Amino acid sequence: MTQELILVHEADGMLELRFNRPEKKNAITGAMYDALTAALLDAVARPAIRVVLIAGEGETFTAGNDIKDFLGMTGGLADAPPARFISAIATLAKPLVAAVHGPAIGVGATLLLHCDLVYASPEASLSVPFVDLGLVPEAGSSMLLPLRVGYARAAALLLLGEAMDAQAALAAGLVNAIVPGDALHGHAREKAQKLAAKPPGALAATRALMRGEPGTLHAHMRQEAAAFSQALKGAEAREAFTAFLERRAPNFDAAAAPVSSGG
Ligand code: COA
Repeated sequence: MTQELILVHEADGMLELRFNRPEKKNAITGAMYDALTAALLDAVARPAIRVVLIAGEGETFTAGNDIKDFLGMTGGLADAPPARFISAIATLAKPLVAAVHGPAIGVGATLLLHCDLVYASPEASLSVPFVDLGLVPEAGSSMLLPLRVGYARAAALLLLGEAMDAQAALAAGLVNAIVPGDALHGHAREKAQKLAAKPPGALAATRALMRGEPGTLHAHMRQEAAAFSQALKGAEAREAFTAFLERRAPNFDAAAAPVSSGG
């Protein structure tokens, strides 16, 4: 039987989604994005689902987009599985809670910026090494991170590609609490169930007010998507992906093509 790469479990008004590709550090393939997107759209469509919880199996929350998949992406990305997932998560009309028990890399970290509550184990870390991969940020992170943590910390994350550990993420306001690994999922579930028991109309309206007018974010995400699409096909990204898969350091000397800001 094929392994379910996204585990979906429903209980008490809560839809729980779990990355389940631990042998590949939960790197997300196109099929996994599609499964996540379908589950999120289903959660929005069904009144019985009041809250979504996202978590991962194994040691890593997720190592982000599957790099082999990145290498295979040469056509338009606007309607590709990662773009559909990012759009679903950024516009989700229901509360989203995350339990992060290990490294959250790339989209694994940027998706957290769209969560309402994030709980992390002491082993959790956030990193967004898009520049190191010859890419640019996605999911609105180049706007949301400076807003959320200030430009200085955002620059260390996005330009230097430094990881942020759980304590720093707590101090920066990116996570709600650090919970020991064996209690993490229970804690996140308990909080998700508390949300599920709230009056859904008031909860949704409050959430919408907290997030504000989405037009600016969505326009910024479109700019990011255009720049990302261009970078993905560029020589820098190709070299970074190939180097990762060949387990060697990248050499960007030959990959000199500058990347436009896209806007
Ligand atoms: N895409 C595809 N495969 C990935 C992956 C990714 N994003 N992350 C990890 N893997 C695979 C590795 O290729 C390896 O596969 P193999 O066993 O068939 O060789 C397996 O998962 C284990 O990874 P490995 O690198 O050996 O584990 P590690 O403990 O040394 O390092 C990470 C773990 C997560 C730090 C490291 O794998 C990594 O940096 N991954 C890439 C993260 C990234 O840049 N993501 C994209 C963000 S946009």
